[in-house]
Amino acid sequence: MIFDRVKPLDAILLTAEKKGLHRTLGGFQLTMLGVGAVIGTGIFVLTSEAAQKAGPGMMISFIIAGFVCAVAALCYSELASMVPVAGSAYTYTYAVVGEILAWMVGWALILEYAVGASAVAVGWSGYFVGLVKSSFGIIIPPALTVGPLEGGFINLPAIVISVLVTWLLIIGTTESARVNAVLVSIKVAALTLFIAMTLPVMKMEEFHPFIPNGWGTIGVVGAASSIFFAYVGFDAVSTAAEETRNPQRNVPIGLIGSLLICTLFYLLVSAGAIGAIGAQPVAGLHGEILAPGSPELAARCASIVASGFSEPLTCSHEALAHVLRSIGWVKLGNLLGLAAFLALPSVVLMMMFGQTRVFFVMARDGLLPAKLASVHPKYRTPHIVTAFTGIVVTIAAAFLPVGRLADYSNAGTLFAFAMVAVSVMVLRKTDPDRRRPFRMPAVWLVAPLAIIGCVALYWYLGLIAKLVLFGWGAIGLVVYFGYSRSRSHVGRGVVDVPEEEAYHGTEPPQPGTT
Ligand code: ALA
Repeated sequence: MIFDRVKPLDAILLTAEKKGLHRTLGGFQLTMLGVGAVIGTGIFVLTSEAAQKAGPGMMISFIIAGFVCAVAALCYSELASMVPVAGSAYTYTYAVVGEILAWMVGWALILEYAVGASAVAVGWSGYFVGLVKSSFGIIIPPALTVGPLEGGFINLPAIVISVLVTWLLIIGTTESARVNAVLVSIKVAALTLFIAMTLPVMKMEEFHPFIPNGWGTIGVVGAASSIFFAYVGFDAVSTAAEETRNPQRNVPIGLIGSLLICTLFYLLVSAGAIGAIGAQPVAGLHGEILAPGSPELAARCASIVASGFSEPLTCSHEALAHVLRSIGWVKLGNLLGLAAFLALPSVVLMMMFGQTRVFFVMARDGLLPAKLASVHPKYRTPHIVTAFTGIVVTIAAAFLPVGRLADYSNAGTLFAFAMVAVSVMVLRKTDPDRRRPFRMPAVWLVAPLAIIGCVALYWYLGLIAKLVLFGWGAIGLVVYFGYSRSRSHVGRGVVDVPEEEAYHGTEPPQPGTT
């Protein structure tokens, strides 16, 4: 049987207790970690893409994506409060639906976190390039700022930021969280400034037509599938559960709190952007719908600007800064650009943080080489897995465009979210009496809604992103059956690992020795 390996919940809790990371994070810090992970490229960079698909209807897209995340967050909260250990969806599914599905979830989380981190690094690179151009008049050649698919060679700024963030994570979570708190404040201040400057000048006529392209793939639901990226990352909070004080209380606070704050910001920011300068999609010469990121749209945008018209929102790579400049606040627009430049690295940091913790737990379970789970003697961080993640993130960021990376990340995330919802329901049936510090209300309504929402958003992703999930999953199965299955601690009967060996990454003990 391939579905028979389930890791007992009590063993997971015991393992974490014996070999855990330092518990240093509280509820406020977790919420800050969540906001730090969530607000980023989605709102600062991909808003243009959502407007090109949905027009002012992108407000509905934000609500749809936010709703799917909210129901998924409730599922996360129940499991995270019951299983307050590192590993997020991977750990939960291991305990509930077994090893092979847990492996697939962990594998999908690599798409979410590592590829997502790469996407944000590339988004940051765009702001960096704009900033050095507007502040110092330095134009960096495109060969060094975009990957081959966009006509360049390598994205050097994205490489630099990925390496810097890797170093921050290696020197320690506490330090990283402190840096993160400052950057989150900058980000929240920038969005607040944007809202304060745009809402007073909102014009209601800019909201008509509200849904210019309908509800399809290049329409409101398609925009929701892409802009879903703007919410990705809140679950990084649960991956920090093992480093959290009183996780039963603080993890749900961190998850739901950060999601609520972000949803409020997104709705106000998108309303401000639409109302201030309009957000109608740019159509082709014959009125045809143009896909975001397509060469046709780029050409049309260039010709609009060349004709002396102001650049439409959907053409801008610095959407929010562009809106402020367009309504006369040029210096504030530049300031907002600077804030994005300073703050987006905190998102890269949180996504990489999540990735390293998932790898760490998978290695601790024997599914990946034990060496990966080594903890640095001085910094007390999983330094080897962090360096490895950094290399993966850097390579992807160096060569691929932001929109593609975001969509691939979404595909992996939606799979993981759906599995978490399945796990909540299964656990309610198989272990109904276990203590649930956070008990999700209306589980038989909310969990199925989360699954339906994830499947629907996945369905409206672009074809390539959909195929990436399958291709990545197939590779994952090859690795599982070729390497991990025979080395799994659960499979070998090793449910727990002595502390010293886990820390220093030596070979796990043979079956039967514990
Ligand atoms: N939600 C994060 C962002 O928008 C990943 O950048």
